[in-house]
Amino acid sequence: MPLIEVNSLNVQFQTPDGEVTAVNGISFVLDRGQTLGIVGESGSGKSQSVLAMMGLLASNGRATGQALFDGQDLLTMAPKALNQIRGNRVAMIFQDPMTSLNPYLTVERQMTEVLQFHKGMSRQQARVRAVQALDAVKIPEAAKRVMQYPHEFSGGMRQRVMIAMALLCEPDVLIADEPTTALDVTVQAQIIALMRDLQRDHGTAIVMITHDLGVVAGLCDEVMVLYGGRAMEHGSAESIFYQPTHPYTVGLLGAVPKLEQGDHALVAIPGAPPNMARLPPGCPFSERCALAEPRCVNTRPTLSAIADRPAVFRACHKRVDEVMRYADALATGEVSV
Ligand SMILES: Nc1ncnc2c1ncn2[C@@H]1O[C@H](COP(=O)(O)OP(=O)(O)OP(=O)(O)O)[C@@H](O)[C@H]1O
Ligand code: SF4
Ligand SMILES: [Mg+2]
Repeated sequence: MPLIEVNSLNVQFQTPDGEVTAVNGISFVLDRGQTLGIVGESGSGKSQSVLAMMGLLASNGRATGQALFDGQDLLTMAPKALNQIRGNRVAMIFQDPMTSLNPYLTVERQMTEVLQFHKGMSRQQARVRAVQALDAVKIPEAAKRVMQYPHEFSGGMRQRVMIAMALLCEPDVLIADEPTTALDVTVQAQIIALMRDLQRDHGTAIVMITHDLGVVAGLCDEVMVLYGGRAMEHGSAESIFYQPTHPYTVGLLGAVPKLEQGDHALVAIPGAPPNMARLPPGCPFSERCALAEPRCVNTRPTLSAIADRPAVFRACHKRVDEVMRYADALATGEVSV
């Protein structure tokens, strides 16, 4: 049984403009020790997908479909059972550590509370474990610093504290929503290296939401590319990187040849992300796609497997070879995104 199996996950919000579908039919499987990257522009539904799984949607949001963790559906689970899993077997970290850390409590107090609640440890046992956890994320003088408040740490150190907190209970899955976006490049690289070590040592599975293709390349086994709340392409990181088959992925990766040069930014695709309340009836990307043709506007392409590439899925009317020709033309500068 896979650790996580998400089937046709939908997230809908009730808004004054009507119902908005922020996530539409997302499915994926995550095995122990594996890393899935979720990429896409702002508003593509990355955060809401994982928040839905954790039962953390805003009050006007509703999730349907299935999100199985170890065979149990997180979407229909009683709140008490979900609380036992959240922060314990499935942990989540965010871009802003202060969303996870309480500014009014010392790090020691926050960490020991988690262990007392989930693991039934005594305060004394929990304190020892907390210092070990800070050591593991390479916080110098952990025994001393554990007594400090979050604001006494630098941005990068605070991010480490948050990761240490998330990993306290040795979760099976770590869900990371842009955990390094606000940090400078050197600290980013250290945090990613840290996550890779923790994964190697503990076999933690990771869902990594990121804008940074360097992070995807360095950490992820599989990648799902989202646009307008839907999966556009989904497959091994290698396939998505080096042989993208969807015009949106090709556009985002305009930067791939530059990866070796250390430029990891997603390329800005001309035009704005779609208005989620008024998506076109056909392909969500049709308004901005260089390869769009009339059928793209009216007929929605379904996500389907590619004949000669196992486990790569794409949602596009164009043939793979046509998209690859477009990618080549982009790479040689014959055309632009
Ligand atoms: N409470 C809400 N009510 C209505 N719409 C919402 C609500 N929360 C999120 N949305 C919408 O859901 C869509 C997906 O948002 P989401 O936060 O998942 O994007 P994202 O891919 O994480 O973007 P970013 O990279 O900016 O974090 C957006 O269009 C957003 O406006
Ligand atoms: S279906 Fe059409 S509009 Fe959508 S990505 Fe493919 S070619 Fe572009
Ligand atoms: Mg987000």
